[in-house]
Amino acid sequence: MYRAVEATRDILPGEIERWQFVEGTAREIFRRYGFREIRTPIFEFTELFTRSVGEETDIVAKEMYTFTDRGQRSLTLRPEGTAPTVRAYVEHKIHKNEDLTRWFYAGPMFRYERKQRGRYRQFSQIGAEVLGTDAPEVDAEVIEMVMGFLGGLGIPGTVLHLNSMGCVQCRGGFRDALTAALKPSIQSYCGDCQRRFGENVLRVLDCKVDRSRVQELPSMVDHLCDGCAEHFRRVKAALSDAGVPFRLEPHLVRGLDYYTRTAFEVTAEGLGAQNAVLGGGRYDGLVAQLGGPDVPGFGFAIGLDRLIMLLPEDQGAARGDDVHVIVVGSEAMAAAREVTRDLRRAGLWVGLAPEVRSVKAQMRRADRSGARFAAILGADEVKEGRVTLRRLADGLETSHGAGDLGPLIEEVLNARD
Ligand code: HAM
Repeated sequence: MYRAVEATRDILPGEIERWQFVEGTAREIFRRYGFREIRTPIFEFTELFTRSVGEETDIVAKEMYTFTDRGQRSLTLRPEGTAPTVRAYVEHKIHKNEDLTRWFYAGPMFRYERKQRGRYRQFSQIGAEVLGTDAPEVDAEVIEMVMGFLGGLGIPGTVLHLNSMGCVQCRGGFRDALTAALKPSIQSYCGDCQRRFGENVLRVLDCKVDRSRVQELPSMVDHLCDGCAEHFRRVKAALSDAGVPFRLEPHLVRGLDYYTRTAFEVTAEGLGAQNAVLGGGRYDGLVAQLGGPDVPGFGFAIGLDRLIMLLPEDQGAARGDDVHVIVVGSEAMAAAREVTRDLRRAGLWVGLAPEVRSVKAQMRRADRSGARFAAILGADEVKEGRVTLRRLADGLETSHGAGDLGPLIEEVLNARD
């Protein structure tokens, strides 16, 4: 028997409705804030990710699905959506036509990660990116949007963790301070950290093994230049004005190298300590780094698999069929097909047995389909040109003319949630 590849999975009817509900809600809420959808390819040239996400990150060093195609090009299944979005922004010279761009995307991402609750090798993100402004109030506005989105879905116990990563200038001083603090004891850190120490010392703060020791190290916020400190002050003030609570997390670095200034993650009750439901931040140098103009950016991505694990049971429940058509005797089949066609044309969700079976078997199927009503057609109904509508909850029956199904359709539609 074939199985889905480890750490990938199928999403079946029953669960898919919850995904559709979350995706639909995101589209609606994000649009209110001016975000429009972009779809980029699932694979890109490998270099796009090594250059933007960073060689020293876990994603690039250990987790990418990279392959050589038949044209001997090195391609990678996208591990995240920001680099492709920025690549598209630059490639299509979007900045020439608009000074502010708000895009969102939804789709699968790929990372070769260790199998764990809430961690998959193919997972889905919904992300949003703002390109063209470095106003701190925009950071707060976008965070407000996504926190409101989580709140509206009823996700319990969310905590917004906030930090500033500074800019290229002030990070130099921080790097020196961190190097000096680590130097005497780096030999006692994990192997990854020892390597990171030489190559990109900031990544030590992202260590999953020596987490508690990281708390003792110098933090970026104490080394911010005046411009970055003021930017961070305004982000915090705008969040407070908007009534969005946050927790300062001076050692939060995020697992990608392109961040500058604001960085944030949201954790939720019910996910392991290391698992965020979403993360994001500012990346003011990325557009230029990928060959575009000097345009600042800010965004986030939500892990949909994790979000759906946290979604309350009653959200996004599947809706059953509206009507199940029951055929009593084969002579009623043609009329039943006709009625089925009419009801579907009117927009109802209608089930019909593929062949004539016992009424009992058809009723069982109607129940299983979750239908609210049965539309019954037997010899009497056909003779009289009528349809009997039975409300399955209490057995109440009404009779309707087959030639004018308007009242029947109305009754069924009124019963929808
Ligand atoms: P990220 O923190 O790497 O950021 O991923 C964002 C979210 O994707 C995580 O918080 C998590 O919920 C989900 N996620 C990541 N890896 C997995 C996995 N293996 N299985 C399930 N869920 C996962 C980014 O990707 C940035 N591009 C976000 C961003 C957008 N920054 C600026 N703009």
